[in-house]
Amino acid sequence: MIEIMPLLDEKSKMPLYIQLYNYIREEIVSGRIKPDSRLPSIRNLSVYLKISRTPIADAYDLLLGEGYIRSRPRSGFYAVSPEDIPSLHAETAGESEEEEQKKSIASYDFHYDHVDLHHFPFKKWKKWSNICLTSENHHLLQNADLQGEYGLRKEIASYLHQLRGVCCSPDQIIIGAGTYHSLQLLFHLLKDDVAIVGIEEAVNIGVKGIFEQFPSFSYRSLTLESDGISMKDLYNSQAQAVYVTPSHQFPLGMTFSMKKRMELLQWAYKKNAYVIENDYDSEFRFNERPLPTLQSIDKHNRVIYAGTFSRIMSPSFRISYLILPRSLFHRFQKQINSYNQFASPLLQKTLQLFMESNDFARHIRKMRRLYQKKHDILVNAVNHFFQDQADILSQGSGLHILLKVKNNMSENELILAAKKEGINVYPSSIYFLEPSSASTAAVLLGFGALSEETIKCGIKKLAKAWKIT
Ligand SMILES: Cc1ncc(COP(=O)(O)O)c(C=O)c1O
Repeated sequence: MIEIMPLLDEKSKMPLYIQLYNYIREEIVSGRIKPDSRLPSIRNLSVYLKISRTPIADAYDLLLGEGYIRSRPRSGFYAVSPEDIPSLHAETAGESEEEEQKKSIASYDFHYDHVDLHHFPFKKWKKWSNICLTSENHHLLQNADLQGEYGLRKEIASYLHQLRGVCCSPDQIIIGAGTYHSLQLLFHLLKDDVAIVGIEEAVNIGVKGIFEQFPSFSYRSLTLESDGISMKDLYNSQAQAVYVTPSHQFPLGMTFSMKKRMELLQWAYKKNAYVIENDYDSEFRFNERPLPTLQSIDKHNRVIYAGTFSRIMSPSFRISYLILPRSLFHRFQKQINSYNQFASPLLQKTLQLFMESNDFARHIRKMRRLYQKKHDILVNAVNHFFQDQADILSQGSGLHILLKVKNNMSENELILAAKKEGINVYPSSIYFLEPSSASTAAVLLGFGALSEETIKCGIKKLAKAWKIT
């Protein structure tokens, strides 16, 4: 029996079974695991790697399904010679890298982060982009105002005021290169007067990563209840800042109640603490009237508001914004020489022109209608094919739902069974600061990039993959 030494990262966004699968696959393909070698048993590997048997069994299952290993009854799992692995032959038979990449993309990818690119306003964008790309605008090819184009900041201030009731002047806005970049910048500004940060107990991986980059902060995980964070946890936390996604908690999807919003602001005022409000997908609220943002009801300048154009325009724009209370803004100004240009002036100017025209408002309305339709199709398809065998734990806003399937399968089993049918669904437990706190097996299903037909068909196939009768 061979020994294997995979380096598994339990903090990684990639599930353990995929890490293990990738590692063994690579070892077999490269010949480092010789054909016909016996792999360690699931039990032994579990003891050796100090992880549960489930991810190992899942990785072996995937390797078996794809022909990298074979199983011999009552003996174990054996590596297959690369020459005998059909999928490898197809690869080496002259397929281009692009074709290969296409093949590995599942036919139904419910990625929560993907947006509909078929309805991107290409023509209009090209028009504004061409205007920027003229010799009179050559200055846009230089680095420009590090804080962001003033004209764009003005548009953002007015847009957020109309859409989200946010009250700010363009001077308080800093354009960033994506939410994580904005948060990194913010943490640099906060690090001298904040030692303890309260964080929702489940957060986006990128956000989790940023918190980990600042070892001078210590963190308090705040339990998520159906109407927002636990105020008791917050009161006990001694935090000087708190990070929240009150409009659409990522990934669990709840909305903070008005009562909790007021309590949170009251807490911040009394403690002179900061509230970091990440309003990442606020444009898409389908069924109810949105509650006011914390920023719009904050009377004491305690809220720092973060937003992004990744959902409404495209994630590849890398344009986000941070609205700072004035005291923090002055700190930013003092440090400005230690930064370099954040977001491309050319792209910022194009976005500004797009926003100044009616095209932006029209685009928002169109995308909202489109996503509402996709959202409703998804919810109806789940209700139709799963009936009472699934609960949608989060729906009604944003571009994903959280689905709990009542068939006793673990999260990994759900993901794996879906993958076998060419469907990607995504884990929710990896977002918990303490993965053991994820009490329910629930998967994330994004619908932004999928066509209506693909959504219906994908849900039907999922019901079959998960043996819902
Ligand atoms: C909580 C949260 N914030 C922000 C974003 C968007 O990030 P960015 O602006 O870096 O594209 C996402 C994307 O999934 C998210 O989940």
